[in-house]
Parts: sequence; C-alpha cells; structure tokens
Amino acid sequence: MGQSLTLRQDNVEAVLAGLTLREKASLVVGAGYRSMLAGQFGFKVPVPGAAGMTRAVPRLGIPSVVLSDGPAGVRIEPKRKGSRGTFYCTGFPIGSLLSSTWNTALVERVGASIGDEALQYGVDVLLAPGMNLQRNPLCGRNFEYFSEDPLLSGKVAAAYVRGVQSRGVGTSVKHFAANNQETNRLENDSRVGEDVLRELYLRGFEIAVREAQPWTVMASYNRLNGVYTQEDPWLLTQVLRGEWGFAGLVMTDWTGRRNTAAQIGAGCDLMEPGAASQIKELVRKVRRGELREETLDVCVRRVLELVVKTPTFKGTPRSGQPDLQAHARVAREAAEEGIVLLKNDAAALPLQPGGTLALFGVGSYELLAGGTGSGHVHRPYVVSLEAGLKAGGAAVEETLAGQYRAYLEKHRPRKSFLSGMVGSPAAPEMPLSREAVEAASLSADAAILTLSRQAGEGGDRHLEEDFLLSDAERQMLADVCGVFHGQGKKVVVVLNVGGVIETASWKDLPDVIVLAWQPGQEGGNALAGILQGRVCPSGRLPVTFPADYFDLPSSAHFPYDYKGKASLVPSGKKHSDEPNVGYTDYAEGSAVGYRAYLGGGAGADGLAGSAGADGLAGGTGADGLAGGAAPSYPFGFGLSYTSFEETAPVYSGDAVTVTVTNTGNVPGKHAVILMDPLLRAFGKTRLLAPGESQTLQLEITR
Ligand code: GLC
Repeated sequence: MGQSLTLRQDNVEAVLAGLTLREKASLVVGAGYRSMLAGQFGFKVPVPGAAGMTRAVPRLGIPSVVLSDGPAGVRIEPKRKGSRGTFYCTGFPIGSLLSSTWNTALVERVGASIGDEALQYGVDVLLAPGMNLQRNPLCGRNFEYFSEDPLLSGKVAAAYVRGVQSRGVGTSVKHFAANNQETNRLENDSRVGEDVLRELYLRGFEIAVREAQPWTVMASYNRLNGVYTQEDPWLLTQVLRGEWGFAGLVMTDWTGRRNTAAQIGAGCDLMEPGAASQIKELVRKVRRGELREETLDVCVRRVLELVVKTPTFKGTPRSGQPDLQAHARVAREAAEEGIVLLKNDAAALPLQPGGTLALFGVGSYELLAGGTGSGHVHRPYVVSLEAGLKAGGAAVEETLAGQYRAYLEKHRPRKSFLSGMVGSPAAPEMPLSREAVEAASLSADAAILTLSRQAGEGGDRHLEEDFLLSDAERQMLADVCGVFHGQGKKVVVVLNVGGVIETASWKDLPDVIVLAWQPGQEGGNALAGILQGRVCPSGRLPVTFPADYFDLPSSAHFPYDYKGKASLVPSGKKHSDEPNVGYTDYAEGSAVGYRAYLGGGAGADGLAGSAGADGLAGGTGADGLAGGAAPSYPFGFGLSYTSFEETAPVYSGDAVTVTVTNTGNVPGKHAVILMDPLLRAFGKTRLLAPGESQTLQLEITR
C-alpha cells in the first residue's frame, strides 16, 4: 500500500488498486438498517431515518454516504436526540399529481426543492422518483408513479431527476423494472414479452436515463421473465448500460440476502440495506474462484465514482435549515396545477363568494396529503380542505363540522411505531343520516363531499373495498345530492385519492367532480384556490378512469383477489406457481391504459384537435380493445374555467409548433397533448390572459 492514499475525484483507479478484497466487498454492501431505524432505537448515525448508507473505508478516505427516501419529499426523522432543531420536510404532491400538471418545468422546480432539503439535511442520494408504469389501477403504489404512458412517465421523471440533481445530490429512478404490483412483490415473476417490455415498461426509464442521467437506478424486488432483475445481466448491463449509456450505479431495493455474487455479476453494484453475511459471501466466492475479482472491481469502481460526486465527500456545507416556506409555495403551486377538474355542470364552480358550505366526508377535515410506506413524509403541517376554504373567506356549517371532528377524535387511526415511519391509513368514513344532511342543508348554500382513498407500499388495493364506492359512500352521495338539489343547491365531489377509482356509476349525481389526488401539505389551500376561483384548473389525466374495472385487459391478470398480506412475503420464500402468487402474466400486451381503447376509432390524424374546455375527445373507437367500452374519463381529460384554441400542429422534422389562444374570459394555463394515437409530445403554456396567445415548440419523441 506504500504512501498514504486518500480518495480524490481523480484517483479512483489508484484507490481501487489499493483496496483489500474485504474492503472491496464491504463497499458494495450497505451498512444495514441502523440509519432507517435510528429514530426508533437511538442509533448514532448522521441522518436518522434515512433509508440506508454505504460503508466507509477510513484508511483510504472513503466516507459512507447517505441514501434517503422518497418521491414526495425527504423522509427522515423530524426530531433528533440531543438536537434542539427539527428536520421536518415539505410534503409535496404525489407523483400522479405531478404528471397531471403536464408541466415538466414545474416538476423540475419541485425536484430542486426536494433536492435542496436533501442537501441541507445531510442526504447524498434521494431514492426517487418512483416511475413504474401504472399497468392496473389496483397497484398499491400507483400514487408514487406517474402514468399509464411511458413517454409522460419518462419526461416527468427526467424533469424530476434534473431538478433534484441540480442541487448536487443524486437520485435513484425506481423500481427497475416491471414492478407493477405490490402483491408478493419480493418473489413475483413479471412475465412480459420483450416488445411490450421495451415499448411500455422500460421506455420511461430509458427516457429518464438518456435525458437526465440519474446518479443511480434501483433494481426492483421482482423477477422479470424468471430472473430477479437484481441478477439480470441482460437488463442491468446489456440494456441499461450497453444500449442506453447509463453511467451510474445500480443498487438493490431493500432486499434480504439473495445470490450476492450473481447480483454483482449482473452489474448490480450496491446491496441495500446490506448485511455482513453478504460481505463474507463475496470474499469467499472470490477466494474460491467462483467470482472473478475483476468482476467485483467493476462494481466497486462505480461505488467510488458515486461517493466522489456526493456532498458528503466534497464537504459541501449543510445548513440544516432549508427554506421550508419557499418550498411550501412550490408544493402549493404544483398542487394547483395538478388538480384535475373532471366535471363542472352549469359552471357551478367557482363557488359564490361569501356562502356557507356544508362539508361532508372525513377527508374534508383531514386531507390525505400523500401515500404510505417509504413514500411517507414527516411534514410540518397539512392544510385541510376546511382550513383552505376558511382561509379563502368561506364559512362552513359548524354543527356538521363538529360532528365530524368528534367522530375523528374517536376514530382516526392511532399513531404507532409503524405509522411514524410509513404514515397512517385513512380514517373510516363517518356514517351519515339523511336527517343530518337535511339539518346541515338549512344553513348551507352548497355542499362539498370528499371521498378519500389511502394507498401505499406493501399492498395492492382491492376491487370491492377500495376501487368501488362503499354502500355508505353511495348512500351519503345520494342523500347529499337529493337534499341539496331539492333546494336548488350545488354539490361538489372532491376525490382525495392515491389512485383511480370507479366513477361511471355515480358521476351523473353531483354538479362538480374535482380530482385532488393526494396534493401534499398545501393541498387544502390549492383545492380552495380552485373551488373559490382564485386558480383556474389546468390539470389533465395522466391515467385513464375506466367505466368498469373489467374493461381493462390487465384486470384478467392482476391479483385483485389475492387476499394474502400482499408483499411482505419473506424474501427467499419458494414462490409457488399458484396463479396470482408466483407470477403475473402481462398477457394484455400493450393494451394498457388508453392503448386498450385504441382500435380504428381514433381519428384519422388521431390528434387531440378538440382542445376546448373538454380536453381530449371523449371515448375512442367502438372497436377498442377494451371490449367496445369507452372510458369514464379518458387519458388527457381535464376541464378549465376558460377555453382555448390550438392551431393545427406544424411539423418540421421532429419539431412541432402549436399556438394556443385563450378564447375564454379568465386567465388560465393549457396543456397541449399531441397523440397519433399514441402520445408523441406535450407542453404547458404559461398563464394566458383572455385573448393572449403563446406558441409552444414541442419535440416529437419517436
Ligand atoms: C422500500 C421501497 C423502496 C424504498 C426502499 C427504502 O421497500 O420499495 O421504494 O426506496 O425500500 O426505503
């Protein structure tokens, strides 16, 4: 070893040559769960609550670096033993809302804000964005993901990565690949034909890698066509690096020990969270000649190349005090642009100022700001819809509000060790009598009814208990509409959901339907801004709302009826061939989302020429693959308070220009969505005053 060798950005090869075999093996294996569980067990770590760390080799000046979740904000313990400061992080809207903005510049600003909080709090790599394709509405993690379309997913992910990395911290695009369900996620075998795999399930990752060069990629738990993605050289080396030119590091998802040598051999560089037994296995395999040391060196080199990029290695100052107020403003702006107006009969919105509103549904009083699992965020606060409306000058019917508050005191889910790490389920809906509705109606000018759906890592959603409305919800909706319409008063339904729900059977009842998704800590203010007319809605659907779940071809191949505790199946369990447990057959091919409705039906030019208030043309051809059905709300749908006209797109090569004019009488933003009939390009205008035009320069992605 000779002269003292200290890692620098320009001597990775020399340091690599100076490492012992055991040191090499330790660098490709994470430091375990101490960091993630430090808040619960008091372990001394730099960033308590961060999901994981790499191991240090102090002899050579190699520090350990900090990896932390998650997509909707940094997930770390908000308090640290012995520190008077707090470490709350801004709760941004979920991924599905970010893509609903169709505004990559805004998504980049969200990324930069989250990246800044990661930087200031001591994190080196943010384990985000989650970007798996939304193959089926019942996947428990769709809230974290962007779309049913790979182009929209990839472009939004690339913007997010650019934003985060602009602050000098890394990202980890996840979960690579074909991780489209939570049921038995550790062992499930996704069986996908290569054409569909490339066109749908890899394409988004490809766009993100080629356009934004994320520092890392996270290889998913599942198998892909019989091979664990984490051990798949075709996926991790031939495709990801050979074809796409990925120059960064691949880490595992938080997996127990598997075949570590096979993971290294495939090009999976870092085992997270990591266990000492994996180090021993690697040393043993190299010594026995079962793993070439040169193969291990390839991964060690990528770990060193990651380390030297990090703020920890560079000694970048960390203030511990990010500008949470500024980031809250970004979170609110994103929520305002990603909320989707699905129905607004007779211009019921904006609400008349000065009225009194009767708020129904527990979600009106306790907003679901985000999903559960590693995507949870310890937010400083959450603005409820009630609080947002009151801040906007509204009065609410207080007797009814009192009933909900009393109910929530008794029925909101109790805080627990687990909920401190992964968040809580939604409160059960409060039973509501028709008398209570009638009593509330007497002093109210309009009704707002919130339907809530929580979703999260570790379990898929269920058809009856989650996708469909419950009997109690149906009764509440019928009573509220019956009573308020009987008095000539409007009814607004707000969907505070992590994913698609059934809408066709009830959407004719209310006057207004607003899809709020899970809009982050500022969600109540953003929602109120739209409902009270301060903000003109411009969100559009990144995913189809089917009329019936079974219209979707993937419904025949999704474990919606698998009752088992979905995904926390101990790793290494021999997966059975029992349907829906051992494997998922992507037999629907490319008939996912709006692609399932294509047939001859799409217009000759297939372009969404009808850019008026109703967004995309409604259904598609009767001969669509979805059995001739039309969606309840199609991909790209979204209403506005104003109207826009688009010129016919002018193409020159891959460049296309579209001029948008605000033909209505309130300022608004507009997303241009070009499909032929697949999504080819999109863009978002700035706020256009009535009569104002903007020409968008878009780029067709082949
Ligand atoms: C979880 C998730 C992954 C997360 C990681 C660390 O199981 O699948 O998204 O980043 O483990 O918490």
